[in-house]
Amino acid sequence: MKIAIGSDHGGYALKQEIMKHLETRKVEYTDFGCYEESSCDYPVYARAVAAAVTDKTCEFGILICGTGIGISIAANKISGIRAALCTDCFCAEATRQHNDANILCLGGRVVGAGLACKIVDTFLDTPFSNDERHIRRIHLIEEN
Ligand code: RB5
Repeated sequence: MKIAIGSDHGGYALKQEIMKHLETRKVEYTDFGCYEESSCDYPVYARAVAAAVTDKTCEFGILICGTGIGISIAANKISGIRAALCTDCFCAEATRQHNDANILCLGGRVVGAGLACKIVDTFLDTPFSNDERHIRRIHLIEEN
């Protein structure tokens, strides 16, 4: 499994913690930036991570900004992306099972590193249900 990860300055510190955690788990990742904490624009990193997911270079993406909101809005503009902003493990599990989410969004100013790593684990370890009703709803989203 390969992960595409990206953040703006608001998510930079949490991204460092998550990358360390992925290394501990021996999960391969590519960091699409930002690479330092000065102010930058989250849509740039949303686009780069989304491209790696839609072109199948990476199976999943992780995007982090201050709240997780802006970067999830930006990612969800891209066709084929289902980006889910999660603040707990229940939502991380449900969005994989029900929405087949392919990008996890987190708020670096919202969740601590301990919880964020558990959310990442839950997201990466939960398969899509393959339930017919969920597949139908995902297809309906794609018609938009
Ligand atoms: C940057 O200050 C902040 O606006 C950004 O990280 C994010 O929270 C936007 O939704």
